[in-house]
Amino acid sequence: MNKKILPSILAGDLSRLSEEVKAIEAAGVDGVHLDVMDGHFVPNLTFGPEVIAALRGKTKLFFDVHLMISNAEKYLDLYRKAGADSITVHGEACTHLHKAVQEIKKLGAQAGVALNPATPLSVVEPILPEIDLLLVMTVNPGFAGQSFIETTLPKIQAARQMIDRAGLKTILEVDGGIKLNNIGKIAALGPDWFVSGSGIFATPDYKTTVAALRHSIHPRNFPH
Ligand code: DX5
Ligand code: ZN
Repeated sequence: MNKKILPSILAGDLSRLSEEVKAIEAAGVDGVHLDVMDGHFVPNLTFGPEVIAALRGKTKLFFDVHLMISNAEKYLDLYRKAGADSITVHGEACTHLHKAVQEIKKLGAQAGVALNPATPLSVVEPILPEIDLLLVMTVNPGFAGQSFIETTLPKIQAARQMIDRAGLKTILEVDGGIKLNNIGKIAALGPDWFVSGSGIFATPDYKTTVAALRHSIHPRNFPH
């Protein structure tokens, strides 16, 4: 199955990053979601390419890099060199979104575009065939541990329909406030990749939580 569970390391114990990455790897996740924030596009600062490169040496996990930064176009190369397997930029933060997507693909990574809860899908529709991944934000970016925004549910469904109608294989990813108590209803709308930060790291046993999350998104439970 192509469904992925991607813990957001931002919600882990930041004083023990590499141990946390190893712990989720042992728990059977499909990759790690790395939230890069610049204190400009979002009101928080996290880590940059050097921390990602340091972690790259510690794990074979897929690195899903989510850039919540202004002028992302300038830094794509740095994040690819740091070890990103997919690089997602924000539609709101890139003046030349198509160009950024092309650049990511040229660097050999999967190219993603993220949209904030208030940003319409129409922003990405003209270039949908060019992108590998569409990230529908289910919180306002900036912090782990926020509540899932319920009004994004119809948007997830509309994104699934937009991709399927166009006959595309674009990966649909959801990120923010996703936990065991709501992942089932979200999964029913057909996303492919699920980011969960505090939904995993705030629980005592990552392996049990990941297994439960995976059980809740299994396609046998849904028509997709
Ligand atoms: C929000 C980030 C998310 C967040 C996820 O700005 O992009 O990836 O860290 O964490 P939870 O699942 O705790 O909302
Ligand atoms: Zn994220």
